[in-house]
Amino acid sequence: MIMETQILEIDERSLALSKKIILSGGAVAFPTETVYGLGANAFDDNAVKNIFAIKGRPSDNPLIVHVHSGYNLSSLVSYIPEYTKLLSKAFLPGPLTMVYRSCNKVSPAVSCGLDTLAVRIPSHKGAQQFLKYLDLPIAAPSANISKHVSPVTARHVYDDLKGRIEVILDGGKCEGGIESTVLDCTGDIPCVLRSGLVTADMIAQVVGECHEYVMKDGEKVRSPGMKYKHYSPNCQTILFEYSDRAKAFAEYKELKSQGKRAVIMCDNSVYEELKPQDVLNLGKDEREMAANLYDKLREGERIADIIVAVAPLKQDGVMVGVMNRMRKAFG
Ligand code: TXA
Ligand code: MG
Repeated sequence: MIMETQILEIDERSLALSKKIILSGGAVAFPTETVYGLGANAFDDNAVKNIFAIKGRPSDNPLIVHVHSGYNLSSLVSYIPEYTKLLSKAFLPGPLTMVYRSCNKVSPAVSCGLDTLAVRIPSHKGAQQFLKYLDLPIAAPSANISKHVSPVTARHVYDDLKGRIEVILDGGKCEGGIESTVLDCTGDIPCVLRSGLVTADMIAQVVGECHEYVMKDGEKVRSPGMKYKHYSPNCQTILFEYSDRAKAFAEYKELKSQGKRAVIMCDNSVYEELKPQDVLNLGKDEREMAANLYDKLREGERIADIIVAVAPLKQDGVMVGVMNRMRKAFG
């Protein structure tokens, strides 16, 4: 079904329209502090299934449920470990998603049949307005076509989903830039399934210990999203390690001499060192790099045939999450 897609400021009118759409089983795109989400009523089976169809998302990759900060969590999950209360106090609302034992109140399509439920309370003002206005758990993946780069502006959402949804609520550019940290809280010690702005170290500082999940060969994936190619721009890509930056520069020049539209993606220090003419500069520090990554990947696919990326020197802290996305984007 092709429909007209509108980008709307968040106000009483657009919220009322969004509510009408959500209550009739539709999906609305909304901003969060990480990336834009594509939301539907988590209680509504067909609405949740529709989200997978709109995105072309594999049917075994579960969704995060979003709620406002006053929502009663215990109505959605069966057990709330003590340490998650400490984490909520330290980091919520904010870019931390916690996975709990589900009490099966939302549609089974949300968690794709798993007995757990991922819950997130975003801090973005527009997200909170939207979620409070609805007062429902909203199942929402990132608002991009599956496997493409996640959207950090309303325009990015439009570019991917125009004709497929009616409303995109515009809350400006997302400040965080990479998706929330996904933390498995079903065990005695929390375990990071997807890295993000709330790092394993930050979590360990609050609760004493935090594991980081590494997939072993043959093991059943705990966070199904991790097995898919992701975040990929629609152009050729190649990634060099930081120590190979001179090789990257030579490759870029070679491609240019062949008449290809090549561009270097790197952090500011590598930019200062190599001074390439065509650059997607990720910035100076980890926060800047996280905030710029998806915007620059989308700019790259627009202006270049090939992105030649150099891995930043810094790879700890928030950069764990940034590097994880870079490696997936660059295959
Ligand atoms: O920042 C974000 O988290 C954004 C915004 C919109 O909130 N959302 C987002 O959703 O990134 P999505 O669908 O693109 O990624 C959800 C991730 C996937 O890796 C999925 O496998 C994992 O969360 N996930 C969801 N439910 C889970 C569960 N019950 N157990 C383990 N992992 C789960
Ligand atoms: Mg996604």
